[in-house]
Amino acid sequence: MPNKLRAAVIGTGGISANHIQGYLASGRYEVVALADLSAEAMAEKNDRFDIAPAHYTDGREMMEKERPDVVSICTWHKGHAPWTAAAAAFKPQAILCEKPMADSVGAAEQMMIACRRNDVKLAIGHQRRFLPAYTLAKELIGCNAIGEVNLIQSMGGAGLPNYSSHQTDMYRYLLSDDECVWVMGNIERKTDQHERATRIEDRAMAVFQFARGPRAIILSDLVPNYYQGAQIFGSDGMISITTESLQILNAKSGGRWEEHVPDGKFYTVEDLGSRFEWEEGGAAQADELADWVEGKAETHRGRGENGYKALQMIHAVYESARMHEKVEMPLQTRVNPLDLMVDSGHLTPQRPGKYDIRAGQLRNENMLDDTKNYSQN
Ligand SMILES: NC(=O)c1ccc[n+]([C@@H]2O[C@H](COP(=O)([O-])OP(=O)(O)OC[C@H]3O[C@@H](n4cnc5c(N)ncnc54)[C@H](O)[C@@H]3O)[C@@H](O)[C@H]2O)c1
Repeated sequence: MPNKLRAAVIGTGGISANHIQGYLASGRYEVVALADLSAEAMAEKNDRFDIAPAHYTDGREMMEKERPDVVSICTWHKGHAPWTAAAAAFKPQAILCEKPMADSVGAAEQMMIACRRNDVKLAIGHQRRFLPAYTLAKELIGCNAIGEVNLIQSMGGAGLPNYSSHQTDMYRYLLSDDECVWVMGNIERKTDQHERATRIEDRAMAVFQFARGPRAIILSDLVPNYYQGAQIFGSDGMISITTESLQILNAKSGGRWEEHVPDGKFYTVEDLGSRFEWEEGGAAQADELADWVEGKAETHRGRGENGYKALQMIHAVYESARMHEKVEMPLQTRVNPLDLMVDSGHLTPQRPGKYDIRAGQLRNENMLDDTKNYSQN
């Protein structure tokens, strides 16, 4: 049995459980250390997973003392870039940082620079690339099962950056990482809404054009029944995916919807139901990361460049709204265009009063955000 990779986590709230579960389920890691400002958050992970990693309240001290092989960054978005840069300075073999990659395209670029400079492999946690229904859809599209893809349609909510960076990433995954060439969209922001300390819009809609011809359209916070997945319309058929299943309608299916519920590498939908996407996604993402680190895979499907492109597509929607234009990709504006619009007075909330839809996740006396603490820079 080869040595297990030594994994550590910075930020041990909700999604960190998925990273820890993934590391353990893949069977290729031991979780050696956790870092969080909250002792309670770390203790919960020990209890839940029956593990006894070292605990730190300072992520840099953890990196210095533990020298882990792989580090998860699971703080809120604004902490992704500073913590990735801090962790990279200690030269672990890989960093798995949560999505959205950063709160600006410029910060995401800095993450890639920090990792390149220190020879660290960087992956972003768009774990739905590992769902078998998504991969089956990609393969069916790749072998022309629905002809030329004309349109991918999806619906999101809770702001574009958080929920829908998964969807812009999904478009590229389904299209074998085709490049987005332009974006046009608009947003509405009447209230001072935030999501995990990042400004978000009240509503959005956008079109994304891909190099090989397909287009994608997103409706965000416009319809109540949004979900992770998509409807894909081709010249010779249609595919509909959710996180658990795929339906296809084409000549081969006799013009009827045919359902597939593919098994994962680690789990089945039959066994886990709605927990499937989390447990399978987390374990398969960790497994492929171990392959990458150990030289058994050339790359990771969530590699930093893909997370960066998913973020660019989201921020291009904001840039389109800011500039009233079709935005040619790659996006040239490095700061967050939504922040620019608000801070410049062009999009002042008409119903003032900052609020955060994730405020309930904060601990102790924090009511809105503790961004100061999130980066500790
Ligand atoms: N991939 C997915 O599907 C998915 C799902 C949920 C969340 N996320 C992402 O994961 C990130 C975290 O979200 P969450 O819901 O787990 O948040 P959370 O609030 O549950 O956890 C964040 C943790 O970070 C800790 N923290 C804050 N500042 C710190 C610091 N300086 N040092 C160490 N720890 C610090 C907090 O104490 C908290 O325990 C977000 O960026 C979110 O978008 C991704």
